[in-house]
Amino acid sequence: MNSPLHEFASAYLGHGLTEIKLKDLLALRSPDNLLRNLTTMFPPISIGSVTLVDQIVLLCLDELVRPDSILELGTFQGFTTHLLAKNSSARSIYSVDLPPTDRVLIDQPDAHKVLQDGDYNDNFLRDIQNRSGEIYLGALTDAEKQRIRLIKQDSTELDFVKSVGNIEFAFIDGGHHYDVVRSDTEKTLGILKQGVIVWHDFASGIHSDVTRFLHERSKHTRIFHVLGSLCAFELIGL
Ligand SMILES: C[S@@+](CC[C@H](N)C(=O)[O-])C[C@H]1O[C@@H](n2cnc3c(N)ncnc32)[C@H](O)[C@@H]1O
Repeated sequence: MNSPLHEFASAYLGHGLTEIKLKDLLALRSPDNLLRNLTTMFPPISIGSVTLVDQIVLLCLDELVRPDSILELGTFQGFTTHLLAKNSSARSIYSVDLPPTDRVLIDQPDAHKVLQDGDYNDNFLRDIQNRSGEIYLGALTDAEKQRIRLIKQDSTELDFVKSVGNIEFAFIDGGHHYDVVRSDTEKTLGILKQGVIVWHDFASGIHSDVTRFLHERSKHTRIFHVLGSLCAFELIGL
């Protein structure tokens, strides 16, 4: 394949963690798409979702890979699921989050600790997700909703092959504990043979396990971090 993404990947053979600029990704887009609009909502101010730069990274990669199927780990309130449904031409978008429960993990959240401690932050977000559900999906049309399949199961217990099948684009933003990130990545690699994996919260200052995992992974693969974003990605089979 001689796509711009393939040529980009060929310039970075081997392994390592490479910092790129957002404009390096934007430069790979076809001139035919110069006038393309994107559809999004203002970035949520509450923690737990993506910034505007993160959104551009996701949509650039989506445009370059043109996936048929997308997997998102960590639906939360459905902001990124909404973004992908509005802008991607993928036929299927699978999004995984934990099943609803009566259990509250943190009774009275400590705002300082939420910003300092990755595991505490994860539990805080799990409680919010459990209470609010996927509020952003309400803004989608019926046709857009029909392309989305919400899977309510712990990703570490989910059979990706049976429940999802082949994908070309993955966004890993579920549990941020080292073992969860590793499990999510390994299971994703089992169903993604050509395309891209994007991890959220690289170098975020809270979820240091994501950063540690990707630094370790970059000892044998090429990982890219887009400066100014919390997104790191790996091109698979390109
Ligand atoms: C950071 S939020 C996802 C944000 C979302 N991608 C967005 O930008 O709008 C992380 C989500 O992962 C979910 N989560 C945590 N551990 C999980 C697990 N083991 N399996 C599935 N979902 C998990 C939490 O319930 C939470 O809703």
